[in-house]
Amino acid sequence: MLILGQVRAARLPATVIAFCGAVLLASPPPAYTESKASPDGIGKVFMGREISHVMGHPGIGWLERTEREREEAPLKAIELLKLAPDAVVADIGVGSGYYAFRLAPKVPKGRVIGVDIQPEMLEFLSAKARELKVKNVEGRLGSVDGIGLPAGSLDAALMVDAYHEFSHPAEMLASILKALRPKGRIYLLEYRAEDAQVPIKRLHKMTEAQARKEFEACGFRFVESRAGLPWQHLLVFERP
Ligand SMILES: C[S@@+](CC[C@H](N)C(=O)[O-])C[C@H]1O[C@@H](n2cnc3c(N)ncnc32)[C@H](O)[C@@H]1O
Repeated sequence: MLILGQVRAARLPATVIAFCGAVLLASPPPAYTESKASPDGIGKVFMGREISHVMGHPGIGWLERTEREREEAPLKAIELLKLAPDAVVADIGVGSGYYAFRLAPKVPKGRVIGVDIQPEMLEFLSAKARELKVKNVEGRLGSVDGIGLPAGSLDAALMVDAYHEFSHPAEMLASILKALRPKGRIYLLEYRAEDAQVPIKRLHKMTEAQARKEFEACGFRFVESRAGLPWQHLLVFERP
């Protein structure tokens, strides 16, 4: 298991290649490369995209800012997911739970597992669940290279404004692929890099083409893009 901070560029571990290659991929996903780190990046590149720094837990106030209602329309985003009431969903890179607590009432017979690598985020999540008396949101400590959830245990995975900062995206996607049941889905929300009007730093945005390139290389099938959000893509991928 790798820990936060171990983000040196490396070839993908044999386990990732073996898992993806044997089960779902004709060829292994490309290795990481290195570049001079840009101010918001870690200098590690996956399929042409420099990975951004992780947002630290002192940024919880920023995650909870009221402007997100206008910038992201979170309730509309959650409606667009169209999840079944009994769905088991992992919110990966859950942060303060901004989406997890809005999602929880939509899965009253299911649950939301908030995965993060920062214990402080999970402490905030637990305290808020107690305060709001929400029973179907729970936290889970992940690692930079995996979510640590059992095989076939998830109906869906949600990633909001988080994937672009995963230091080991290929390993994370392999881990999510394994944890999803067949036909289980990833819902990816990232700020639209194609749209110059979206006032977000470059490494914190992503194009649809880039996301598709990475997810398809790691064994996911692209299903569709669901339009209607102010600043973000909502891209749907499926475990074949
Ligand atoms: C910008 S925050 C977004 C939080 C939340 N999704 C939201 O939209 O409010 C990104 C979060 O992803 C987490 N993160 C980064 N790498 C991760 C990984 N490999 N696994 C799980 N969480 C990760 C960070 O710790 C941080 O809490």
